[in-house]
Amino acid sequence: MSDFATRLIAWQQEDGRHGLPWQVADGYRVWLSEVMLQQTQVTTVLDYYPRFLAQFPTIFDLAAAPLDDVLALWSGLGYYTRARNLHKCAQAVVTQYGGEFPRDPALVAELPGIGRSTAAAITAFSYGTRAAILDGNVKRVLTRWAGIDGYPGVKAVENKLWGLAHALLPAEQIEAYTQGLMDLGATVCTPKKPTCLTCPMNADCQARLSNRQGELPTPKPK
Ligand code: ADE
Repeated sequence: MSDFATRLIAWQQEDGRHGLPWQVADGYRVWLSEVMLQQTQVTTVLDYYPRFLAQFPTIFDLAAAPLDDVLALWSGLGYYTRARNLHKCAQAVVTQYGGEFPRDPALVAELPGIGRSTAAAITAFSYGTRAAILDGNVKRVLTRWAGIDGYPGVKAVENKLWGLAHALLPAEQIEAYTQGLMDLGATVCTPKKPTCLTCPMNADCQARLSNRQGELPTPKPK
């Protein structure tokens, strides 16, 4: 049985999502997609993303635009704080970093509207930086696979998950690995009725072995 990362990369190449317009090694395009995808479905983002890029082809165009133009293009995506932070972040990347996102995820995470997981996704996809992501989907995959009990919103549980996310990272092919983790959580290891029969981790998934897929991740305590 090959290790977690090897299986995940092989699965991503066969059954993961391919041909998405933001699957490019370009910080601006990756960042824009990750911010849009934070709270919006892929199908909706596929509609907005090209229009946004047509109006703001580079991060310099976005940074120089009036905020109202950005908000107008964002109209319909909701969560307008994202659009305001997007504009602020573009200006910060232009003034602090000459228009290029840093390669260090810790620096990217300091920018407006970017948390630790999004910073890791941006640097992994843009530069192949070896950084761990941990969004809601990934928390579900890891708590089930490793059989980790406790609500992931609790700091101690979250820290454990970050440690595991980091320990599982491969030495190479970070892009395919990171996309695979997102895709597995979105398409196979779903909140309800996960399709364990098609999962590359089914042989050693602790939740599946103990039939606890419905109990993990542990829900928020009442
Ligand atoms: N959700 C967040 N980031 C994503 C990505 N890069 N591809 C698909 N869905 C995502």
